[in-house]
Amino acid sequence: MPVNILAIESSCDETSASVIADGKVLSNIIANQTVHEQYGGVVPELASRAHQENIVPVVDLALKKAGMQPADLSAVAFTQSPGLIGSLLVGSCFAKSMALALDVPLIGVHHMQAHVLANFIEEPKPAFPFLCLTVSGGHTQIVHCDGPLDMRIIGETLDDAAGEAFDKSAKLLGLPYPGGPLIDKYAQTGNPARFKFPEPQIPGLNFSFSGLKTAILYFLQENKAKNPGFVEENLADICASIQHRIITILMNKLVKAAAETGVTEIGIAGGVSANSGLRKALAEYGEKHGWKTYIPKFEYCTDNAAMIAISAHYKYLAGRFTPMDAVPSARAVF
Ligand code: KG4
Ligand code: ZN
Repeated sequence: MPVNILAIESSCDETSASVIADGKVLSNIIANQTVHEQYGGVVPELASRAHQENIVPVVDLALKKAGMQPADLSAVAFTQSPGLIGSLLVGSCFAKSMALALDVPLIGVHHMQAHVLANFIEEPKPAFPFLCLTVSGGHTQIVHCDGPLDMRIIGETLDDAAGEAFDKSAKLLGLPYPGGPLIDKYAQTGNPARFKFPEPQIPGLNFSFSGLKTAILYFLQENKAKNPGFVEENLADICASIQHRIITILMNKLVKAAAETGVTEIGIAGGVSANSGLRKALAEYGEKHGWKTYIPKFEYCTDNAAMIAISAHYKYLAGRFTPMDAVPSARAVF
């Protein structure tokens, strides 16, 4: 009997459902919530309501696309933590109800672990030990993995996440939320060496991005005082320079982590791993340092249920199920 798992992701502002059969993703449906754009950030209450509206059609479509009926499922998985609590509650209540009705096991998944395991959805899969730079809107971590369920954070941000650095910089430039993909877009035609932003000197493998945000704020204030059209006239170069600095901060720590651990299987994950400059940088650094590098397919970088499904697949094989009285948590619980 194949192991068919339905996975639900609802930690932030994407409602997603995926069906995986014996480790092969058959569907990955993602409903983006556009309601937040007008507010310049995710509004938790609106996110929860949108999840409630989206979840039935999204799950329905994921099952249909996989050619499955609910009765074919071996387990139901959901994102348990971390995330917005109201959003997590919608996914977890739905998953519990479905598991209960079908009398199949429930599998709670850690969202950040799932981002890492997005690298294991398609071939070639990383070998262990594996180092993953996970960069999302809420987290920036270097994770050391000895197995799919055996992970350890060896470096993380002390303040803002890399995605926040992108989004907050974009906001300062007057770009709409989420600004990361827009900075990426404008950076493509800009000169990354035109403006120099500082690299924080943080010991060890940890990161800090709040100083960069302040430096950009002062840089823009100063230049706009001299020329009100400064941002419009130099948008591509400003975006390229900001992106370049964020990428070098990330890559320099990854190089350090690889040297300290001796690991040569190296990947990236999370929403910011969709960034074209970071994807290119990983490939270049990999060549230079003799790493074997991994980058998830674009649709598996930003929030999606396929990464929850692959994590649930490994948990199923290990017999790691979640009791029906388990509750989701806004904070990361490993
Ligand atoms: O992993 P994710 O979808 O959600 C969280 O778990 O946080 O990450 C979202 C973050 C946002 O900050 C968004 O601006 C950023 O990923 N992002 C990008 C790009 N695509 C998404 N940042 C830079 N370049 C991109 N192409
Ligand atoms: Zn995420």
